[in-house]
Amino acid sequence: MTESDFVLPSYAFSADAGKTQWSAPSNIALVKYWGKYPSQIPANASVSFTLNNCKSETTLTYIKKSKADKDLRIKVFFEGELKDSFLPKVETFFLRIEPYLPFVRDYNFEINTSNTFPHSSGIASSASGMAALALCLMEMERRFNKSMTDEFFYRKASFLARLGSGSACRSIKGSLVEWGIQKSIPNSSNLYGIEYPFEVHKVFKNYQDTILLVHKGVKTVSSSVGHNLMNDHPYAKQRFEQAQANLSKLKPVFASGDLKKFIEIVESEALNLHAMMMSSLPYFVLMKPNTLEIIERVWEHRQKSGSHLCFTLDAGANVHLLYPEEEKEIIKDFIEKELVAYCENGHYICDHVGSGAKKM
Ligand code: PMV
Repeated sequence: MTESDFVLPSYAFSADAGKTQWSAPSNIALVKYWGKYPSQIPANASVSFTLNNCKSETTLTYIKKSKADKDLRIKVFFEGELKDSFLPKVETFFLRIEPYLPFVRDYNFEINTSNTFPHSSGIASSASGMAALALCLMEMERRFNKSMTDEFFYRKASFLARLGSGSACRSIKGSLVEWGIQKSIPNSSNLYGIEYPFEVHKVFKNYQDTILLVHKGVKTVSSSVGHNLMNDHPYAKQRFEQAQANLSKLKPVFASGDLKKFIEIVESEALNLHAMMMSSLPYFVLMKPNTLEIIERVWEHRQKSGSHLCFTLDAGANVHLLYPEEEKEIIKDFIEKELVAYCENGHYICDHVGSGAKKM
């Protein structure tokens, strides 16, 4: 599908007012997206586990304008409070999606959103938040186009979510989502995420993700600045090729459940993401001393216990611990005895692979 397939050709909305409600989960990338081209086109393909517990819940209320004008009229409430600071991001999103949802200027919108994870946890809510908002808007479109297929609904939701935040396009479906053109993956697209189309071993169906909250403050460098620094990055070409190669290497790993190989690829991806940050100009470091302490402990634990615990990182200091469900008890014990000390106020969040966004 191309961009033009998502343009709403003509519409005759008769509704004066209404409300839509969706929840969308966060996701954690195994092969990382870092670097993009205009209109949120990823420089390399990526794949992520959809999470289950960490999600955004959004209600969109729309009321037809009494007098037509060209202005966007949006109010954003976060956890019950009016948040004007969220407006620039939301308005940019509405402007980007306008060619595909031309009705955005015909209504007054109120967006009420909240997260199931603490606001100041350092967990990016843009993926789940943009995915939930895109689904609410698609629900609106579907009300006026009853013949829309479910396939189109979810695909366009992912397409729109991408325009809000790249990785948000992987937060619509579960449990393993691929985004970006990869020659060997049929129907892969730079425009939206797809459910990983090949065999996935049962061990990955309920994989655990415990998020250790190392640093809950605001990041010193935002993702969008970080992506842009890949434009003139000396290792960009090699990094993009490496990501494509890692995605290919994961195919037999997902099929066989080869956890040793899985760990090698996932940890290497996390460290390479941060290596790109450290070798950008200007360079920056998002890891904290406790991030490295945890990584050391994870390696020690794996060596001593033979467990399949591994880590990954997103663009921040927090550590995602990934492990099979059957090792849950041993890992829980290890986290409580050895890792909690490295978490800010001892906080961590237990999550696992989930099945995607839900209508509320
Ligand atoms: O979706 P963005 O622009 O916030 O970028 C997300 C980038 C990483 O989380 C670091 C990697 C990824 O693929 O999710």
